[in-house]
Amino acid sequence: MAIRLPKRYLVTSALPYANGPLHIGHLAGAYLSADVFVRFLRLMKKDVLFVCGSDENGAAITMRAQKEGITPQEIVDKYHSLFEDTFKRIGISFDIYHRTSSPLHHETSQDFFRTLEKKGQFVMKESMQFYDEKAQQFLADRYIKGTCPKCGYESAYGDQCENCGSTLNPTDLINPKSTLTNETPVLKSTTHWYLPLENHSEWLSEWLENGVFNGKKVHDPAEWKNHVLGQCKSWIEGGLQPRAMTRDLDWGVDVPQELPGSAGKKLYVWLDAPIGYISATKQLAEDRKTDWKKYWQDKDSALIHFIGKDNIVFHSIIFPALLKAHGDYILPDNVPANAFMNLEGQKISTSRNWAIWVHEYLDDLPGKEDELRYVMIKNMPEQRDSEFTWNNYQDLVDNELVGNLANFVNRVLVLSHKFYKGKVPKFEEEQDFIGSHGPLEDSFVEAELMDVFDMLFEMREKLYLYDFRGALQQLMNISTMGNQILQFNEPWKIVEDDPHKVKAIMNCCIQIVAALSVAVRPFMPFTSDKMRDMLNLPPIEEKGELLKVLDRLAEGEFLIKPGHQLNQPEHLFTRISDEVIQKQMDKLKSNHLETASAGTPDTPKKSDNNHTADTIQFDDFAKVSIVTGKITDAIKVEKADKLLRLTVDIGSEKRTIVSGIALHFKPEDLIGKDVMVVANLAPRKLKGIESNGMLLTAEDGEGRLGLVSPPVGWPVGSHVG
Ligand code: 2FM
Ligand code: ZN
Repeated sequence: MAIRLPKRYLVTSALPYANGPLHIGHLAGAYLSADVFVRFLRLMKKDVLFVCGSDENGAAITMRAQKEGITPQEIVDKYHSLFEDTFKRIGISFDIYHRTSSPLHHETSQDFFRTLEKKGQFVMKESMQFYDEKAQQFLADRYIKGTCPKCGYESAYGDQCENCGSTLNPTDLINPKSTLTNETPVLKSTTHWYLPLENHSEWLSEWLENGVFNGKKVHDPAEWKNHVLGQCKSWIEGGLQPRAMTRDLDWGVDVPQELPGSAGKKLYVWLDAPIGYISATKQLAEDRKTDWKKYWQDKDSALIHFIGKDNIVFHSIIFPALLKAHGDYILPDNVPANAFMNLEGQKISTSRNWAIWVHEYLDDLPGKEDELRYVMIKNMPEQRDSEFTWNNYQDLVDNELVGNLANFVNRVLVLSHKFYKGKVPKFEEEQDFIGSHGPLEDSFVEAELMDVFDMLFEMREKLYLYDFRGALQQLMNISTMGNQILQFNEPWKIVEDDPHKVKAIMNCCIQIVAALSVAVRPFMPFTSDKMRDMLNLPPIEEKGELLKVLDRLAEGEFLIKPGHQLNQPEHLFTRISDEVIQKQMDKLKSNHLETASAGTPDTPKKSDNNHTADTIQFDDFAKVSIVTGKITDAIKVEKADKLLRLTVDIGSEKRTIVSGIALHFKPEDLIGKDVMVVANLAPRKLKGIESNGMLLTAEDGEGRLGLVSPPVGWPVGSHVG
């Protein structure tokens, strides 16, 4: 349990970039865990705000706009409304879903910047950066491509070479080109505001390692996840560097115009995005006529950031440094980041369309929101990467949701209607049935309900410690126990002979269903509504109901009074047929084929240490024939946005390869490129063209794709192994 009891909580989920739909990996990373947590806190009668919004600034947006051929504003509008809708449909219960294009956000982040500037928290530094004279703009790192100085790969980006994995500066590139105009950019001097992060390293270490800030214990590092602390530690030990807080861009929040040198400068997206949490809270407070400051500036408030592991340093080092530099704010109490969720053995990838898009899931499997939530929580990547598979989805729904939870609830309701016309039975005092049948003890109901109390208490502890998988297990244990009571006592066999005992058993089981209808809420809110309906009880409003259940059970009080009329049962969950699973598997594979097709490997890049594909034996690998080749021709495939028809010289012959890389490369740029080809892949037809082989590509975490090439000047037809 927490070392202190906060008076209120401010819970945030990472603001998703409004540049593409949400997939299940996003959900597993930052949204579902936060939703479980806040619903739980509300059930415990805590004062909590849950804020989020769309991240609508920065190069991630302009690049997508460029790709889709529409304006950045159109991109953010499109994805902001899709996000809002999708989150609502899957039951993510934000108090506000805001956006960083709002005037309030611009104002808030500019004010924040001004304060830092006034307090002398920035240093101005001049550096030479690439400028595209034709487009008349400075180029963000990923808008520059050129030859890698380390390995000779010709399509390296300004920040990284995807061929050899080296981290680069744009000025390291040989023959740099602007991806906007294909012109050679010039170096131009530019001045930016930098946060001297190196000055923050000492207090950050003390705060992260010991939970001590300004000489006071403010959080318990034992409650922080090891992988979060580990990442921060290695960053700090690697030496913190000054970090530019402004950019030369034309899309984002302007640096306050009164500051000299602000013309053409925008705030760095990683400065303005977390301030998005503050502006969202301000907007909410304005809507509700409350005070936002107490959530952000009172030491009795706990600020908790739910994020994916790729955002750890921004929330555990950079944003805290900014908050401290500002001076008016509290620091995060915890940053319970999740790792990544893989899908069917591969890393989820937007560019390769290897994903389950949440809005498509909701369209394809209507009414099965909680099935997805359950499976995702059960496999939540809390400490390390995890995996979603459709077969596991089917197993968990069939065996646990149908076989355990729905089965218990249904049996209790059906039997209550059968025995008592749906009226909660009143059972006589224990002495009436002591020893009459089976193992009933004199305080049977009380003892069983005490067990339920213990399990709920355990669930509560786990939820406070962000152990959502463990908490869900506790919940299901309660249902298992309910099933065991029925199975062991077989009330249907003794209802005639021992009606007193059966009344006690049934009353006890109804109390358990009532407890479950509350406890299930953080994980499966739609199911909670259905259960309340069957029990003929008001829906859960998330205003302290779990606290009430715990109190009542502790006092030995009923949750549902004898005589209460229950409604007719309906099935909470139904089995998932093999056809449904097959359809989803086919969809996943065909979407992927259409996007990546023969040109992109079906496995993630080798350098990705998050990847959890099965280990293979050398013999398996030896079956793959990889040879070096050169692209001699490249044309677009008609009526297929993503496909290119390539002719590749592999020494012994020229191959036709249909490759799903058209969104990443212009055909004319590919001619003459040296590539690696999987030469013995079975031929397959794409848009009527037979493809014979596959190019090896590498994909980074942001969905950028690079061709894997042999060393410079290497002959075609060489075997790779
Ligand atoms: O990684 C991302 O998707 C970022 N848009 C997260 C921003 S989180 C926060 F700072 F708002
Ligand atoms: Zn390289």
